[in-house]
Amino acid sequence: MTARRYDAVVVGAGIAGLMAALKLAPMRVALLCKTPLGEGSATDWAQGGIAAALGIDDSPQLHARDTQRAGAGLSDQHVVAILTDDAPARIEELLELGAAFDRDPSGALALGREAAHGRRRIVKAGGDATGHEILKTLISAVRTAHHIDVWENVVADDLILDDGRVCGVAAHASADGRPLTFPAGATVLATGGIGRVYRYTTNPVEATGDGLAMAARAGATLADLEFVQFHPTALAIARDPMPLVTEAIRGEGAILVNDLGERFMPRVHPDAELAPRDVVARAIFEEQRRGRSVGLDARACIGERFPHKFPTVFRFCVEARIDPCVQTIPVSAAAHYHMGGIAVDEWGRASLPGLWACGEVSATGIHGANRLASNSLLEALVYASRVGESIREDHGALGAVSVVARAGARVATATAADEQAVRDLRHLMYANVGLVRDEAGLHAALVRIDELETAIPHRGSELRNLLVVARLIATAARARRESRGSHSRSDFPASDEAFAKRTFTKLESVA
Ligand code: FAD
Ligand code: SIN
Repeated sequence: MTARRYDAVVVGAGIAGLMAALKLAPMRVALLCKTPLGEGSATDWAQGGIAAALGIDDSPQLHARDTQRAGAGLSDQHVVAILTDDAPARIEELLELGAAFDRDPSGALALGREAAHGRRRIVKAGGDATGHEILKTLISAVRTAHHIDVWENVVADDLILDDGRVCGVAAHASADGRPLTFPAGATVLATGGIGRVYRYTTNPVEATGDGLAMAARAGATLADLEFVQFHPTALAIARDPMPLVTEAIRGEGAILVNDLGERFMPRVHPDAELAPRDVVARAIFEEQRRGRSVGLDARACIGERFPHKFPTVFRFCVEARIDPCVQTIPVSAAAHYHMGGIAVDEWGRASLPGLWACGEVSATGIHGANRLASNSLLEALVYASRVGESIREDHGALGAVSVVARAGARVATATAADEQAVRDLRHLMYANVGLVRDEAGLHAALVRIDELETAIPHRGSELRNLLVVARLIATAARARRESRGSHSRSDFPASDEAFAKRTFTKLESVA
């Protein structure tokens, strides 16, 4: 077992982990990534862009208003203001690091439009390759930062606890299972989302909720777990994960039609295709429940300009033998983003001493019941900076950790039974804990989760974490007996004032 002592260990190398590691300078940092750097993150796949009030007709207050409207009454006004006030500075910082964002003919940043944004405020790169550009920029900064040791192909398994304080991370090398221990004064979880727990998702296969499950097992407080955002327009072809068809295409005027050629969104919501994401996703789901397929029609509004404006989506379409210049694009809703996560304060501090979280794994209170498009990359940047600042300030007080090399139990190797269980679980979650939920389905899901846990007592890392994630989401969804934002209950279709608050929980109270 290897034990290397650091001032801080950061788990995850997407936008949140990379930026947090940079911000921790000059502290000694271990940056852990379960894949080679640059792979296995949602950040790399982000298309639409990153929101910031930069237009002359815009302001942080208008951005905050849209964020709160999307959040369906649960967004915390204070942290939303932190987010939207800080956004322009974070864009400036990326530009200084070398990010090449798209510009208009006058040389100003080209601002795109997305659903539920009242202004054009989406900064993008390469048309629809924003995440890739940001990731590339941050990786090149990390590669030249002397205070960071990058540990690639290392999977974090558990937090190390000493008398209730988090003192680092127990991990293993993905190549040979060799245990590794990273004692550290500060631990930052930046492991991304949970999309893999659903059969249909836009998330990379690495999005198995590892950080959420690790924090849950360690006893951290978690929040907003029932709120899972489904993106309305994943490319409906037989690919897992499903390629995304960015919302920015609807921002340019593309319309949704069913296979009868009917445009259905205007009768669902006054903003039609630019209604909040949960509304559009459920409308598509409803069409499909009636036996109709749905297509995105960009022929009139984009047409021949498609390959130039949206090169990533164009490539996905061509690979599927679809020409979006002249054909509609088949789309379906897919699990995309988890609003819930590890509960953190405005500095990214979790409830356990020594633990911080940022990016999708965290629950800051910004997104409420439904995240506004392009606020996720922004939140990751804003909170990674705040986490860095908070840990640097606490550094003296953190002191030396007393743990030398204490790892959790070695995690079993995945078997064929694990793989079958993961498949079952993913189907179950999409069917019973998906876009529209009810008591019978949620109860059945929890019974099946119990059965899977009993049937496979020695499970590999993926199944071990996915079962925790599934239990947390299903339990929270069952407890919220109303519909709000992304959480829709067919047995409680209305919002209920009694539930107009965020929910906080611990694993011990649901297991
Ligand atoms: P990630 O970028 O997912 O990074 C997580 C990292 O943790 C990865 O490196 C992963 O390998 C690593 N990791 C995970 N578990 C472990 C472990 N146990 N041990 C070690 N390492 C681990 N948001 C926007 O704001 N704008 C967009 O345009 C946009 N488009 C999107 C398009 C797609 C297809 C998807 C899937 C999401 C999109 N989102 C968008 C959401 C946004 O991309 C993510 O929420 C954001 O990138 C999350 O960043 P992160 O750093 O928290 O996680
Ligand atoms: C998209 O490009 O549609 C995704 C944007 C987001 O998830 O914020």
